[in-house]
Amino acid sequence: MKVSTAAMGLLAALPTAHSWGSLGHITTAMVATNFVQPETASYFKVLLRNDTEHYLAGVATWADSIRYTKWGRFTAAFHFIDAHDSPPTYCGVEFDRDCKENGCVVSALQNYTSQLLDGELVAWRRMQAAKFVIHFLGDIHQPLHTEDVAKGGNGIHVLWNGNEVNLHHVWDSSIAEQMLGGIGRKPYPAALEWSANLTAEIQTGGKYAAQRESWTKGMMLDDPIQTSMGWATESNSFVCSAVLPEGPSAIVGQELALGEYFQRAAEVTELQVARGGYRLAKWLDLIAERINAQASADEL
Ligand SMILES: *[C@@H]1O[C@H](CO)[C@@H](O)[C@H](O)[C@H]1NC(C)=O
Ligand SMILES: *[C@@H]1O[C@H](CO)[C@@H](O)[C@H](O)[C@H]1NC(C)=O
Ligand SMILES: *[C@@H]1O[C@H](CO)[C@@H](O)[C@H](O)[C@H]1NC(C)=O
Repeated sequence: MKVSTAAMGLLAALPTAHSWGSLGHITTAMVATNFVQPETASYFKVLLRNDTEHYLAGVATWADSIRYTKWGRFTAAFHFIDAHDSPPTYCGVEFDRDCKENGCVVSALQNYTSQLLDGELVAWRRMQAAKFVIHFLGDIHQPLHTEDVAKGGNGIHVLWNGNEVNLHHVWDSSIAEQMLGGIGRKPYPAALEWSANLTAEIQTGGKYAAQRESWTKGMMLDDPIQTSMGWATESNSFVCSAVLPEGPSAIVGQELALGEYFQRAAEVTELQVARGGYRLAKWLDLIAERINAQASADEL
């Protein structure tokens, strides 16, 4: 479908605070599905009441569907952490400085991970916690979900193939969509193709194989804050190197869908979705292992 410039202008004018677009979230979940241990898959299929291959992908965008509802309003701040740095000269995230009183993606990952591990919590609460963890672990890998400048780029207007859009939307959706052959493709087939490629690149022989172990180094189930601060810091570093390499003013009105900017952005997006998916698999493994160990201890 061809979207007119006028319609895109309208879209850009809407109050926006989206999230890693559905393509990014679904692909992240599908990559994770390919790397979890069999016991992890069994555990989460039961918890999420879905024994198809899409048991993770099917819930990956749920957190976005409730954030603008009356009930879900309290989760709005959980999708990001607003680093008060000053790209491109200084990038950096600090938990005490940047995590708001009403929470942020780092505190949310801690909160919902600990709920998942809480055997006393009723099943529907643990199911909900799983959906939040799956979503927020994806969000933290989108560089502009770790940046304060112009509300994570929502206030920066740029051009994408001649249409006016905001920079946050570009990094949530436009880059990935263009990598996959343009808007108008259904998310599931596109995400399946993308996740299959990323999975091959992470596996032995792929271009990410040599670094994959470093992606989960220092991952600590007992310290989700420190663990996810590591992810946030890494993600935020791309704000200086690839998102705003010349700073926030210089990018206003620039065409970003062509040339060097897009090339670099596509590389970063691919890497971040691969990392997010692989880390999600390992994080869910750690959770399922802990729960299964508790269950066997209880049987003794
Ligand atoms: C499992 O999830 C997929 C993807 O959302 C969905 O199409 C399917 O209907 C779900 N199956 C069950 C049993 O809920
Ligand atoms: C933790 O999760 C619960 C349940 O969704 C929520 O009510 C609470 O506000 C969360 N706390 C923090 C600090 O994020
Ligand atoms: C996936 O890999 C195939 C074969 O190398 C390639 O043609 C295609 O463009 C790739 N798709 C994505 C989304 O990376």
